[in-house]
Amino acid sequence: MRSKMLVPSKELVEAARADGYAVGAFNAVNMETAQAIFAAAEREKSPLIIQVTQTTMAYTEPEDVAAVIFSLAERATIPVAVHLDHGRSFGIVMRFLKMGFTSVMIDGSLQEDGKTPRTYEENVEVTRRVIEAAKSLGVSVEAEIGRLGQIGEDASTALTEPDEAAKFVKDIAVDGVGIDMLAVAIGTRHGLFKGKPIIRSDRVKELSDRLDMPLVMHGGTGVPDEDVRKAIEAGMCKVNIDTQIRVAFYHALRDVVEKQEKEYAAADAAGETRRYDIRKIIAPTRDAMTEAIAEKMRLFGSAGNA
Ligand code: G3H
Ligand code: ZN
Repeated sequence: MRSKMLVPSKELVEAARADGYAVGAFNAVNMETAQAIFAAAEREKSPLIIQVTQTTMAYTEPEDVAAVIFSLAERATIPVAVHLDHGRSFGIVMRFLKMGFTSVMIDGSLQEDGKTPRTYEENVEVTRRVIEAAKSLGVSVEAEIGRLGQIGEDASTALTEPDEAAKFVKDIAVDGVGIDMLAVAIGTRHGLFKGKPIIRSDRVKELSDRLDMPLVMHGGTGVPDEDVRKAIEAGMCKVNIDTQIRVAFYHALRDVVEKQEKEYAAADAAGETRRYDIRKIIAPTRDAMTEAIAEKMRLFGSAGNA
């Protein structure tokens, strides 16, 4: 049975736009990340976008992660959109639509290898195909124009051009039906920044005024809080967070293993047997991820809006 709390992301980002906050979109890769994301949203009474990226397929079957997410959604008391992040082909989008995702991103800026840029025409073509398929199911669509900074790149130079974005939004519309939100390049990049990033909230404002639609910030990790607030004020309605969750997981895991090593050494010295327990090691990492996600929900202003 489908949870009554499942909604297309359009509903959430439009409400956010009307009220001047942003909804966080958090990446889940397994049961614990999904649990942490739901726990934070419940605790903060925040609307939620939980997303799975197509690269998860290199780790596990996305259907398995989706099953956990839909199970958690059954018990949710906050509205939740389940979103495909960075879908790179029509085939991938279809696979996620089949799972019951309520929202999809077609990342037509890059080819399926995730590296080679697509031409403008190719981006328009694949985005139109996705709109045709998703809209008949009531599923929201996010597209991308401009090139988001990738790991290791300086993202402050290649920004989304308002003229090109306006043309793109017009060109992709199928019988007057278009996308629900647009990912734009405004100085963020995926992964951690080296040094202080230059975030162009002036460009966000220009794009928001020109396009009159919710905008999406990718690469939300590492953007200084003040820049996040300014970007949201200027029109960002969805902020993607992935790396911050990984960082919280890693630090907590390192601490717990360190503590565990000491306990084992004490057990060895006392002539006792070591007790190995996966749950004892993983649970603190889940708590740390929940805390990191909740902090972002408060920063984005979505807390208290469910
Ligand atoms: O699509 C996912 C994001 O853009 C996440 O970026 O890893 O820098 O938080 P991040
Ligand atoms: Zn992204």
